[in-house]
Amino acid sequence: MKKLLLLLFALALAAPALATAAQPPQKQAWSFNGPFGTYDRASLQRGFQIYREVCSACHGLTYLKFRDLAAPGGPGFSEQEAAAIAHSFQVAAGPNETGEETDDNGVRLQRPATLADVIPSPFPNQQAARNSNSGALPPDLSLMAAARKDGVDYVYSILVGFVEHPPKGVKVKEGLNFNPYFEGQAIAMPQPLTSEAVIYADGTHASLQQEAHDVATFLAWAADPQMEQRKRLGFEVVAFLILFSGLLFLSYRKVWKGK
Ligand code: HEC
Repeated sequence: MKKLLLLLFALALAAPALATAAQPPQKQAWSFNGPFGTYDRASLQRGFQIYREVCSACHGLTYLKFRDLAAPGGPGFSEQEAAAIAHSFQVAAGPNETGEETDDNGVRLQRPATLADVIPSPFPNQQAARNSNSGALPPDLSLMAAARKDGVDYVYSILVGFVEHPPKGVKVKEGLNFNPYFEGQAIAMPQPLTSEAVIYADGTHASLQQEAHDVATFLAWAADPQMEQRKRLGFEVVAFLILFSGLLFLSYRKVWKGK
């Protein structure tokens, strides 16, 4: 009896937290799941297009260099394409000929990025990032698909999970948006994707689900760019071990023949 009361008491305490706990993410089928899964190149390229045209207004990818966009196992851009992409981003410049790092208004001098630069945050510092986002910090997305539980499904679900009118009885604070997949069910990010938010270069129809799927695929690669090489190596090691075991067995038979 005492135990039951304690349990009820604990439940009563936990109830408010349960009410706003995040909903588990929607599970999707991903081409890169499983021991032989690989990234879908076309989806990676479309995902990068979404990142570039939408997400890069607020989020950086500072664990990735522009060069990685042309590396094997990635979106498969050519080196020239990756260089042209880099050139369209601005990064903080070093001191100019007269040793200045800022212009007359105190704004940091900028230069076009190169293959060797990281994919930058659009904001010069965290304070500026918060000021532009009603106090919330848009996190770096490089490791987002690895950092959160069910990472890639989580990213997908957040992107498709915005609901214009929260359910009855749910109050969402000023400046936040209802999203059942985010902790607390209210997120400072305004809904970034809607149907036809971009016009895909490869002609794919840009539904909200397609866009979320593509950018989540791209962020899964960003968080684990070596995945394909790692899986291939694992496969080769296992194949070698099988072959080697066979050879060992044959030599064992030969050595012990007739004994
Ligand atoms: C207008 C600015 C803005 C744009 C554009 C934007 N975001 Fe965000 N994003 C934010 C802010 C601010 C947060 C932090 C929200 C919070 O803490 O409540 C955030 C949070 C997130 C989170 C949740 C992170 C967590 O901590 O769990 C994900 C995932 C995310 N953004 C992905 C994206 C993707 C993908 C895109 C492009 C399709 C995008 N965002 C576009 C501002 C933006």
